[in-house]
Amino acid sequence: MLNIFMVFGLSAFKGLVSTTATLIFFVFLVFAALLNWMDIPMIWETSFGQAIFTSPSARIHHEMIEYPLNCSNVHNLTQKCPDDYPSVFEPEESTTATCPDYFRWIHQDLKQWKSSGITEDAIERGIPSTNFRLVIVNGNAYVEKYRPAFQTRDESTIWGILQLLRLYPGRVPDLDLLFFTGDRTRIMKREYKGKGPNAPSPPPVFHYCGEKAALDIVFPDWTFWGWAEVNIMPWEQMLMAIKKGREKIKWEEREPYAFWKGNPRVAADRVDLLKCNLSDKNDWNVRVYKQDWGKEIGHGFQQSKLEDQCTHRYKIYIEGATWSVSEKYILACDSVTLMVKPRYYDFFSRSLVPMRHFWPIHRKNKCRDLKFAVDSGNGHTREFKPTIPPKAQRVCDETAAFLEKGLWTEFMVQSMVKSPSDKLPCTLPPPYESRAIQVSLNAKEKITKLVETWETE
Ligand SMILES: *[C@@H]1O[C@H](CO)[C@@H](O)[C@H](O)[C@H]1NC(C)=O
Ligand SMILES: *[C@@H]1O[C@H](CO)[C@@H](O)[C@H](O)[C@H]1NC(C)=O
Ligand SMILES: *[C@@H]1O[C@H](CO)[C@@H](O)[C@H](O)[C@H]1NC(C)=O
Repeated sequence: MLNIFMVFGLSAFKGLVSTTATLIFFVFLVFAALLNWMDIPMIWETSFGQAIFTSPSARIHHEMIEYPLNCSNVHNLTQKCPDDYPSVFEPEESTTATCPDYFRWIHQDLKQWKSSGITEDAIERGIPSTNFRLVIVNGNAYVEKYRPAFQTRDESTIWGILQLLRLYPGRVPDLDLLFFTGDRTRIMKREYKGKGPNAPSPPPVFHYCGEKAALDIVFPDWTFWGWAEVNIMPWEQMLMAIKKGREKIKWEEREPYAFWKGNPRVAADRVDLLKCNLSDKNDWNVRVYKQDWGKEIGHGFQQSKLEDQCTHRYKIYIEGATWSVSEKYILACDSVTLMVKPRYYDFFSRSLVPMRHFWPIHRKNKCRDLKFAVDSGNGHTREFKPTIPPKAQRVCDETAAFLEKGLWTEFMVQSMVKSPSDKLPCTLPPPYESRAIQVSLNAKEKITKLVETWETE
């Protein structure tokens, strides 16, 4: 373990083998694996690539031996996983580039466990709050499921981790992880804070979003590997399609309105947004449309293609039940993103800056603000060898694919990592000092307030 931390410049962990450090390293690898796909264009001038997603060169997987999915030998779930995939990662290139800013939040999200450490007991206590547990031992993944996930969120998330194991074989440390796949935040601070010195430490639970009041550790949501139920491709393919789609109409030639399409029933704020739509009485420069997934499923998703939704100069982001997976697709359109003040964050959104990446919209005066915007343009430091839970099953690409059918299988083939990475990931930047976080939050608040004063004037 030690040498890996040194290779990646995490000298702070020298001499220390703790599970918090291991978890930080794991999340870091997950983010690094997605980094090459993160070049969402930035509103107005440059691209996200320069601002926060300093993407290294495109994925170089050519001239490498590829290991495609081969299920011809898989007849049942107790099937042995094949072992022909490389077990070590031999990068040809090293990189000294520092990872984008949002990587720094990894330290923040795991800070809670730095002193208390992650104990077997904390993991056990977390089980009732989660959908599955994933254990990695010697580069192999084992899964124990506790309760069903909505649609195939669990399968897609497990698939994502299997791809990580393929991208950096031999580098993903032994881990014991809990995942929650629902919408709502799961581990609330109020249940642990101020409960006295002998209060149990909160369980470390990975989830797709977080909020101020929660301790959920943010992890890329399942859609990065595709959302088969509603025909949304894995992010890499989806981004390529959106890039093509957004080139069809230049920004100046797009409809000069703020566009939103989605399911309003999941949040009161979304229902409220419908009031800003064009009517006989008002034109707030807003054009909103209801997404009827039932109808789309029956009609081959002709009206819900995200690559065909870069037609307006402004696109509205508004949270659903909590965070919304739509954020990245909206930002990718290269329109101006009008963001109704979010309460939740995903793994990259805390590094978005108002008036640089989005235009802030107040929750209360949505119509007015939208109109204005459009008008203006671990551990007790013990060795931690997870034990494979007795009921956990080994998973690999082949067993995962065996379970699935139809579009999801197609998406798995698309999103599969076919050979190990040929380069080291970027270098993890150090944690924020708590003062720096406050300074940055204050600065964002100040910009937002300034925009609000323009709107009221
Ligand atoms: C898939 O695996 C089987 C059995 O190991 C092998 O005979 C076959 O050639 C493989 N197919 C591909 C396309 O690699
Ligand atoms: C599963 O497949 C393996 C290999 O083909 C075979 O040895 C085993 O008996 C099968 N198990 C069941 C339950 O069918
Ligand atoms: C909003 O207005 C447009 C244009 O009149 C209309 O086509 C659309 O259906 C309306 N959206 C909703 C959710 O009513």
